[in-house]
Amino acid sequence: MAQYKIAWLPGDGVGPEILEAARLVLNELRLDADYVFGDIGWEFWCSEGDALPPRTIRLLKSVDAALFGAITSKPMRAAETELIGELQGTGLLYRSPIVRMRQLFDLYICLRPCKAYPGSPLNFREGIDLVVFRENTEDLYCGVEFSPVPSGISKRLLQLSKPFEAFKDLAADEYAISCKINTRKGSERIAHAAFEYARENDRKKVTIVHKANVVRASDGLFLETAQKVARQYPDIETDDANIDAIMMWLLKNPFNYSVLVASNLYGDIVSDLCAQMVGGLGFACSGNIGEKLAVFEPTHGSAPKYTGQYKVNPIATILAAKMMLEWLGETEKARRLEKAVASVIQEGKVRTYDMGGSAGTLEMAEAIASKL
Ligand code: IPM
Ligand code: MN
Repeated sequence: MAQYKIAWLPGDGVGPEILEAARLVLNELRLDADYVFGDIGWEFWCSEGDALPPRTIRLLKSVDAALFGAITSKPMRAAETELIGELQGTGLLYRSPIVRMRQLFDLYICLRPCKAYPGSPLNFREGIDLVVFRENTEDLYCGVEFSPVPSGISKRLLQLSKPFEAFKDLAADEYAISCKINTRKGSERIAHAAFEYARENDRKKVTIVHKANVVRASDGLFLETAQKVARQYPDIETDDANIDAIMMWLLKNPFNYSVLVASNLYGDIVSDLCAQMVGGLGFACSGNIGEKLAVFEPTHGSAPKYTGQYKVNPIATILAAKMMLEWLGETEKARRLEKAVASVIQEGKVRTYDMGGSAGTLEMAEAIASKL
C-alpha cells in the first residue's frame, strides 16, 4: 500500500488536462501515493442530478487529501432547470460541488497564496507576496436564499425590520433574499488560522477585510471577532480595511500588505485581484483546508472553450499540488517543486499562451519536471 491515498478529481472542461500535467510532476517527484479517481462535475449533474455523487463523498472520507481540477458551475434559477429534462420542477438547483465539498467537510480555510515569481511577464510588480485567508463555509455562500420570497418570511421581516418596509408592497417574485450568515466560531477560526500562519511564516502584518460600516451585523461580528483574536498575537501588526477601499490600496501599494483575512465572498473577490497581480488565473492556487481533509485546486474555472486543446497554463494546478505536498508534510518535495516552477518562469524559455508563449499544458509540465 502506498503511503498516501489521494482523491483525484479532474472534473470537466480543462480539468482533466491540467490534472494530467500535475500528475506528471508528482510522478517525477516519486510521491508514494495511490491516486483514486472520483466523479465530480457538470456531467454527473446532467446524468444523475448530482454533481458530487455519494460515491465521491465516500471516497473523500477515506483519503489523506484531494486534488481537484475544475468544474463548470452555472448560475441557475428554478426556471432554467428545463436544461436538465427530468429534474424540471423538482426544485433541485445546481449548487457548485466545490462549495458543497467545502461545507460538507468543513474545509473552513481557503488559503490562497499569491506570489509574483521573478521574471514572469505577467507580474504587476516584481516582489508581490500576498496570502489570502478566506473563510470557506458560511457568509453569502451559506445557501439560505428565497426566490420567490415566502409570505411567512416577508411578514416576519416586516415585524422585525424597519428598513424592510421599503420592500413590503412587492410581490413575492419581484424580489429575492440571500442571507449572509457569519458566525463567531467561523470568524474566529479563520482569524486564528491567518494569525498562526503569519507567526509561523514570519509575516509581520494581518489585514482584516470587511464592510462593517454598512453591513453592520454580520461584518461587524466578523471584524470584532477577528480583532479579538488579533489581541492574542501582539507580535503581529493588525489593521483592517473596507473591501472596496482595499481593492484600490492593493493596486496602489501591494507592498503594504502581507496576510489578508476575509469572510467568504470578500475573500473570493480580493483573492482574484491578488491573483491577477501575480499572473492571473494561470498562477492562482487554493487549498481548502479542514481539520481532517484538504482539497487543493487551481483557482481558475473549467475554461470550456479551451477543453481538449492542452493549452491552458498548468502552473496554478502544479502550485496547488505543491500546497498539497506541504499539507501532507512532504516539505522537501514541495520546496523542490516550487523551486522548479520558479526556475522555469525565470528562464522564460517555456511559456504558455497567457505568458505570451506557445508552449502547451504538458510541455510546461515537462519543463518543470525536468528541473526536479
Ligand atoms: C472560487 C470560485 C468558486 C467560488 C466558484 C466556482 C463557485 O470562484 O473558488 O473562487 O465562488 O468560491
Ligand atoms: Mn472565485
